[in-house]
Amino acid sequence: MSEPSELQGKHIVLGLTGGIACYKSAEFVRLLTKAGATVQVVMTEAAASFITPVTMQALSGRPVVTSQWDAREPNNMAHINLGREADAIVLAPASADFIARLVQGRADELLSLTCLARPRERCPLLVAPAMNREMWSHPATQRNVAQLQVDGAVILGPGCGDQACGEVGDGRMLEPAELLEDLIAFFQPKVLAGKRLLITAGPTFEPIDPVRGITNHSSGKMGFAIARAAREAGAEVTLVAGPVHQPTPRGVRRQNVMTAQQMFDAVVPQAQQHDVFIATAAVADWRPANSAEHKIKKEGGKDVPTFELTENPDILAAVAGLSDAPYCVGFAAESERLLEHARAKMLRKRIPLIVGNLGPATFGRDDNALLLIDATSDRALPPDGGRADKLTLARALMQDIAQRLQAVNP
Ligand code: C5P
Repeated sequence: MSEPSELQGKHIVLGLTGGIACYKSAEFVRLLTKAGATVQVVMTEAAASFITPVTMQALSGRPVVTSQWDAREPNNMAHINLGREADAIVLAPASADFIARLVQGRADELLSLTCLARPRERCPLLVAPAMNREMWSHPATQRNVAQLQVDGAVILGPGCGDQACGEVGDGRMLEPAELLEDLIAFFQPKVLAGKRLLITAGPTFEPIDPVRGITNHSSGKMGFAIARAAREAGAEVTLVAGPVHQPTPRGVRRQNVMTAQQMFDAVVPQAQQHDVFIATAAVADWRPANSAEHKIKKEGGKDVPTFELTENPDILAAVAGLSDAPYCVGFAAESERLLEHARAKMLRKRIPLIVGNLGPATFGRDDNALLLIDATSDRALPPDGGRADKLTLARALMQDIAQRLQAVNP
């Protein structure tokens, strides 16, 4: 879902240290440059035993620096220049040894020297550990990682799974796409830090029999973009999703459901533990009153079956009606008279904010146009009244909601 321009204008110093995960760093550079960043690769001597500087130069489009004695730098201070120019230093992979060296403030080779010399207030350090699971879980490494965080570094991962040594466990470097998603998130303003958000997304599926059911065209893209944007903004996010084919945004807790009743049962009991509830799901209004136990057979000459429908519970109205309810945000997909219909829905459900969008022009698409409607005002996103991709809209919506929370609870 990330746009090509996500890291436009950002200059990243990518440090490689000795580890087999260096092979993933080649792909990571590709993703960084595709996202618009410029990348300066710095490698330790050990890293160059795993992947060649030639490969990294070709992919980054810049000569790799490996030595503090590199005479190409006019002032001969590569370690100072690198940190001054960077928007962030990312160490991927970061070996156990290199992490230990950072903790000690060692500076006897270019990469550790660069990390130590960086202007800390504007050049953050992000560290993606990569090592065998025994090395990762060793108290010395755990101590070092904790200290590194106290010193201001951000730790990315590590992941869990198969390791090059044949063992299985914690310590794998995150995949390049995961590193990219975390880095993009890192640069987003933390306007929802400390908040807990509960989000519904996607359609529901109401079974007629074991193989058939009633559903709709909702793709879940808007709700998943909101979950991602909320997480990027620093919130703790629970996403209750109907049947959709969307990858779970990083750091988001996802619960899958099928029916409206299941969504209701998943949402309502935990709603009061959240600060905000955003209902983006296109919940089926009705379900078959009786779902057949076995497949309804088509038998020639027999009558076409008919179904009695019964109403589904309104999840949003139920949450809004709870004592100590979270701040509730609804969505309204309309085909005409958006403002009028959406505001009526807002009043009916007794919620402070509703987001209107035009039904046929949002389902399944990557872009959208939103109208934020409260009791007294309305505001278009994007502000020019055009269209924007759903992640951009979701981020703007998070900013708006953060301001409203601030106003309600300064
Ligand atoms: O009532 P209507 O479906 O038009 O309202 C749409 C809003 O209400 C959306 O935010 C949707 O997620 C929510 N909703 C709900 N439970 C339902 C029906 C709609 O939470 N059963």
